Amino acid sequence: TKEGFDTFMEKEIREQPRAVAETLKERLDAKGALTLDELRIGAETFRGIESVIIVACGTAAYAGQVARYAIEHWCRIPCEVELAHEFRYRDPVVSVRTLVVAISQSGETMDTIMAIRHAREQGARVLAIVNTPGSTISREADAVLLTHAGPEIAVASTKAFTAQIAACYLLGLYLAQVRGNKYADEIADYLDRLSEMPAKIQTVLDRYAGSPDLGVDLERIKSVIFLGRHVGYPVAMEGALKLKEIAYLHAEGFAAGELKHGPIALIEEGQPVVIIVPTPRRPELHRKVVSNIAEVRARGAVTLVVAEDGDESVNEFAEVVWRVPKTPTLMRPLVDVLPLQLFALRMAGHLGFDVDQPRNLAKSVTVE
Ligand code: F6R
Repeated sequence: TKEGFDTFMEKEIREQPRAVAETLKERLDAKGALTLDELRIGAETFRGIESVIIVACGTAAYAGQVARYAIEHWCRIPCEVELAHEFRYRDPVVSVRTLVVAISQSGETMDTIMAIRHAREQGARVLAIVNTPGSTISREADAVLLTHAGPEIAVASTKAFTAQIAACYLLGLYLAQVRGNKYADEIADYLDRLSEMPAKIQTVLDRYAGSPDLGVDLERIKSVIFLGRHVGYPVAMEGALKLKEIAYLHAEGFAAGELKHGPIALIEEGQPVVIIVPTPRRPELHRKVVSNIAEVRARGAVTLVVAEDGDESVNEFAEVVWRVPKTPTLMRPLVDVLPLQLFALRMAGHLGFDVDQPRNLAKSVTVE
């Protein structure tokens, strides 16, 4: 049931604190070590892994792109992310020392199933991050790390996305731990930071409990551009995907650094641009994105900005600021995506569309 919400999508957006908390639950043993008991791949095998390839589609692939930043940073293992349907056809280099990570809410996405079959035929170990126990992907993988988001009914994925990021982070920290690298000592600390995320997610959801302020004339919006840098880049693409799926609006997510390499040509008077601003504690990232806001604003863009509490540098360039609590950079996607989900929901509702059952889409894509 919708439990008092108008739509499943809104209910599922509001369930994200729990989805993330449940996914992180009971992962620390008495000695403060991260345990992933359900993994059927031995620690020895994880120690021998030389590369990680994440395969997934759609929103799950964006979760994978977020994870890549964390896995490479924590584990110092090369990590690629590839759309499952592309992976199979490019003759990928995989071996017994490759860990292929399949991410899927349903566990039934045919493109992802075919990718893991292909990977296993080449001798790779396959670990599945799935939300549906007993699904095809969970049965065919060598090991499973479940997300505990609960059933996701709305076609557009929301709580599965944040739960997938949480699960990927557990995997990244676990790999760092078993491989004993320099981050191994900091794992308990990272897990503490992660365990603070459900409360931060709740804070953002409470702030925007009503309709988020959009500051734009909804009737006039023809397209929306999303910009992000570092982990904000896949979040920008996810924000754009949500808008396409449920509001049928043309939307694109770009890496903020790409702006001057082409997309800035799109900016004209009144063009809405959503920008995800990194924390000022990472000045090398922050400074550049703030200057991107100024650049699009100078060309007439209506700027909708996601920024941390206390970051006043964005105010003079922003039509609207959606505030998120101070959060470590790698964890920011877990809060940054929330205003974007709510933005899409609000847009779709305003335009009168059925957000739970968008046209042309199926909840799980079981054909190739
Ligand atoms: C986006 C969405 C799709 C799915 C994709 C993968 O809102 O729902 O892009 O993320 O079809 O589905 P799963 O995760 O079930 O493999």
